[in-house]
Amino acid sequence: MATTSKYCFRCVSCGKTIDGFGQWLSCGRQCPKCGKDRIETVYHDYSGLKSLIYSKECRVNTIWRYFDWLPLENQNSTVSCGEGDISVERWKFLEEYAASLNINCQVWVYRNDENCATGTFKDAGASLAASVLKEYNIENYVVASTGNVANAFAFYMSKAGISLYAFVPENALAMNSAGVSYYGQRVFRVLGDYAKAKKMAREFADKHGFLITGGNTDPLRVEAKRTMVFDWLRNMPEFPTVYLQALSGGTGPVAIEKAIRETEDLGLLCKLPRFLMVQPDGCAPMADAWAKAKARSFPEGWQNDYPVYNNPDTKIPTLATGNPATYPVIGELVNRSGGDIFSFDESKCEDVARAVAFETLAGIGPASSVALGGFFVALKNSLIKNGDVVMINIGEGLNRAPEFLKSLTYTEQKVSRTDECELIDRKKLQRELWNKINLM
Ligand SMILES: Cc1ncc(COP(=O)(O)O)c(C=O)c1O
Ligand SMILES: [Zn+2]
Repeated sequence: MATTSKYCFRCVSCGKTIDGFGQWLSCGRQCPKCGKDRIETVYHDYSGLKSLIYSKECRVNTIWRYFDWLPLENQNSTVSCGEGDISVERWKFLEEYAASLNINCQVWVYRNDENCATGTFKDAGASLAASVLKEYNIENYVVASTGNVANAFAFYMSKAGISLYAFVPENALAMNSAGVSYYGQRVFRVLGDYAKAKKMAREFADKHGFLITGGNTDPLRVEAKRTMVFDWLRNMPEFPTVYLQALSGGTGPVAIEKAIRETEDLGLLCKLPRFLMVQPDGCAPMADAWAKAKARSFPEGWQNDYPVYNNPDTKIPTLATGNPATYPVIGELVNRSGGDIFSFDESKCEDVARAVAFETLAGIGPASSVALGGFFVALKNSLIKNGDVVMINIGEGLNRAPEFLKSLTYTEQKVSRTDECELIDRKKLQRELWNKINLM
């Protein structure tokens, strides 16, 4: 059995130290002192992290570059296929667009669509989770997911020889259940919404005594995701002042805040970016709660005042967390960062994805289109300012959603005779695409 020499967990509520994953499991994943279930990972020694971030010698570009600061003891337990070895790109066409609105900013994107396992933001967390479970010889794992987490976990658990039981809501994309099933893992399409899928997953895990993921604040997901901060430090001349992401449960901002806090004393010169969190308007409970709180100047207890939408009607089920139980944590973080939570008209996602594909050749999925669409809305609403360094998380590629890809067709012409075939004017097409963006 592994011994946890490099890290321990700390209870977020009472500060009690927990030796590591083994002790956490033996306590039934509840703090032995206060009984709460939210913990954070603390490493005994951070010296070396700064030089590793900037090291030219280290040839590993995956999240496993940061092995010494991930909660896995034995390197042989690593279950990996290159996750995190993705581009940090500057997208000048977005900077030019911002400049046309008199906002001079840098715009960068973090290309999670390039993740080799399932092409999403979820591969990193799934790689670490599978590795830790393998280290502890865990044979069965349960997850509730709006879709992409289920796919990523299915891939990595299969690679680790672990059985996965994934509960997805009724409206999950066909690709999401196919992406679990074709690895021979079990997917339950729950007749109901994500909240019901979560409830059933918990009951199922209790019934069989199986381990279930800890959700958005699960330390394994948070620890893996926070490596994005190290990657930005490594690849960008300046640290982002704005972080834009499509929001479902909010693991992204939790992970970023954690990384920044823990490296505060290392002289890495990064501070909390303003979190601009975007929800599709078909399911935007956090954006609605935020708008209400903002209109009332954040009255006492605003963090606990949020709506719950049952069976939300959205084209983007991947982001459909109708019961935003993490709002107290996310709302607080966004507020502290000086950021905002707002919605994007999801009927415009195709226009965004077409413009991005035209300008960059990148095929972005529906959840990524929400994040990108949020960029245009943020510019218009003065949430992005002169001098900002904006980082946009491209959370998924088009391979996640063949249905969405199909809906991007806009230059097809049905023909039966050659004289019907019209020429294309790409300059005109480009103008039309941008006219649509201008109206957002
Ligand atoms: C592609 C993509 N982007 C963004 C998110 C939202 O992630 P979170 O709110 O957990 O940080 C998800 C969640 O499923 C996703 O799949
Ligand atoms: Zn405690």
